[in-house]
Amino acid sequence: MATSVGNNDILKMRRPDDWHVHLRDGAMLEAVTNHTARSFARAIVMPNLTPPIATVAAAEAYRSRIVKAVDPSLNFTPLMTCYLTDDINAKEVEQGHAEGVFTACKLYPANATTNSAHGVTDIKNIYAVLEAMQRIGMPLLVHGEVTDRETDIFDREALFIERILEKLVADFPALKIVFEHITTEEAAAFVQSASENIAATITPHHLEYNRNAIFAGGIRPHYYCLPVAKREKHRLALRKAATSGTPKFFLGTDTAPHTVDAKESACGCAGVFNAPTALESYAKTFEEEGALGMLEAFASENGPRFYGLPLNEEQIALKRQTQTVPEFIEVGEAKIKPFHAGEELAWTLARNN
Ligand code: DOR
Ligand code: ZN
Repeated sequence: MATSVGNNDILKMRRPDDWHVHLRDGAMLEAVTNHTARSFARAIVMPNLTPPIATVAAAEAYRSRIVKAVDPSLNFTPLMTCYLTDDINAKEVEQGHAEGVFTACKLYPANATTNSAHGVTDIKNIYAVLEAMQRIGMPLLVHGEVTDRETDIFDREALFIERILEKLVADFPALKIVFEHITTEEAAAFVQSASENIAATITPHHLEYNRNAIFAGGIRPHYYCLPVAKREKHRLALRKAATSGTPKFFLGTDTAPHTVDAKESACGCAGVFNAPTALESYAKTFEEEGALGMLEAFASENGPRFYGLPLNEEQIALKRQTQTVPEFIEVGEAKIKPFHAGEELAWTLARNN
């Protein structure tokens, strides 16, 4: 069913899922999780904690902490992922998947981003695991950037396609792969022309701004994330892909909270905390593109179909009602700055059960 846009003031849709979130742990987990759960029925939870979530037992314990932190009335299910390391055990991965603990595995090339020091140094090191994942139909979620110091930061994603992804797809033609948080027209084109087992997530922030935002009148750490935003032509390609109705592109916010102190520093952390208004931000993009009718497919249908999971039955609604996004969200004594802080958004979530 297409998103209902008959009445301009209310946009009813199947409840969406978020196929890429960072919920962190401890006080941060407590502070951020309900912001995701209020909109999204399920979320793929990234495993880049310290230490990383790389065993079934660690994932089960982390899942329990998430469930405990979330308001039960929000009816939210976390979907856990396994952090791939050079010495990850294929049996552990298979067992975790069979037991319904691991939904997918996450590939971080070593040192690509936050807490990726334990990531994979050579893709050949995980070929046995990829073999097993292909056999059992378990998705591989890829942070697609090369990590050598010589490569320009703005070229890292496009080069990852040439150097790693093309061979990976050729060697594992039936492996389900999600190219996460794509930022370039090269990535959108690659996914579009690849076989149906290759898909991509797109974040609200990469749809909303280009790399100029990071340097507008000074250094703007709250716009810094990885992969870093690229030039305008890439943003336009992502907007086209997201709103195209192609089932290969779906919602994954990459909401990645860091405290203001950690962001506003001489070496600030990468990540945009977009959970409080992620769905409303996507609605802004889709409306600007004249594609509100495509939002439900992107947010609520393409993801579960790719993962082989049932679509959510619950309905939600967005109202055309202006909201001003708060400047900060509190985490104990600390604060996080959300995406769109201080700005007005035209759509506001209204739950509709
Ligand atoms: O900007 C990012 N932040 N990109 C990532 O890949 C990781 C994330 C984080 O965990 O903070
Ligand atoms: Zn991420």
